Amino acid sequence: MLTLGIETSCDETGVALFDDQQGLLAHALFSQIDMHADYGGVVPELASRDHVRKLLPLCEQVLAQAGRQRSDIEGIAYTAGPGLVGALMVGGSVAHALGYALGVPVLGVHHMEGHLLAPMLEDNPPAFPFVALLVSGGHTQLVRVDGIGEYQLLGESVDDAAGEAFDKTAKMLGLDYPGGPRVAALAEQGRAGQYRFPRPMTDRPGLDFSFSGLKTFTLNTVNDAADKGQLDDQVRADIALAFEAAVVDTLVIKCRRALEHTGCKRLVMAGGVSANKRLRAALEAMAGKLGSTVFYARPEFCTDNGAMIAYAGAQRLKHGQRDGERIVAVPRWPM
Ligand code: KG4
Ligand code: ZN
Repeated sequence: MLTLGIETSCDETGVALFDDQQGLLAHALFSQIDMHADYGGVVPELASRDHVRKLLPLCEQVLAQAGRQRSDIEGIAYTAGPGLVGALMVGGSVAHALGYALGVPVLGVHHMEGHLLAPMLEDNPPAFPFVALLVSGGHTQLVRVDGIGEYQLLGESVDDAAGEAFDKTAKMLGLDYPGGPRVAALAEQGRAGQYRFPRPMTDRPGLDFSFSGLKTFTLNTVNDAADKGQLDDQVRADIALAFEAAVVDTLVIKCRRALEHTGCKRLVMAGGVSANKRLRAALEAMAGKLGSTVFYARPEFCTDNGAMIAYAGAQRLKHGQRDGERIVAVPRWPM
């Protein structure tokens, strides 16, 4: 079955073709980051309009890349939520219109299920069951995964997501949106041990997270350094490193707990923050000591993309799941 995947939940237009037998045939992504950078974050109306401009050309592009025709498409998957409602509606409208024209089934899928399953697109994919750490701009969750659609939430952030904390820290340090990769790059120049940031909620049992206190701690540290006239490039890098180390340590502690509690031997990390090199290295070191293995997608499939939606949709379409006639767009949607 040849599935077209469409992702338009936020500021990336992603399209891909996934074939059950041959795997991922083609994928294309257009990032709106430059357009939103002037505003310091995603402007929903601009995002929707740009998805309208880019989506059909990207569909044509992946078909050409794969050497296929529109009429070869056998199923269409699109992100139905969570996300920006206008942006979601663009993907859903194109998916349903194409599906209607081609007479093929269409299915709206959960964006976070897409992220969760993205490591399945790599060589040597994880077998079930596994523990998944989902770390994106909107979510920080630990999930036990026993199969497609068999998800048990083990813990989640009670306030900000890890990616959101990275983005806000970037702003405080005068870095552009999206902040995660920029904070990580600045942290490379940081000197270890200059600052010690808290590891929130690690001293009590459970698998929930909280990152808003860490954000405040960062703000106070930045303001304090500025008041003393010390906020030069080196100090900004030191703060970036201290912040990143605190987030990474916190995530590692909770992942270790989740592996121990569930007895799972496989840990999957997914979502934008799973592209973070320090986090990958730290999780691998921790898992190695437990005799567990860590799985993650290539960096371009950690952040938003069409391939993960094509893959997740294909798993469900092949079992007969499909939308009715209505476009599904759910801005807030627990997995
Ligand atoms: O999964 P994603 O592309 O979109 C959402 O579904 O939210 O995640 C985006 C988030 C942003 O907060 C971004 O700053 C963060 O992932 N991110 C990173 C890195 N790359 C992206 N955070 C830390 N280190 C990175 N290398
Ligand atoms: Zn995402």
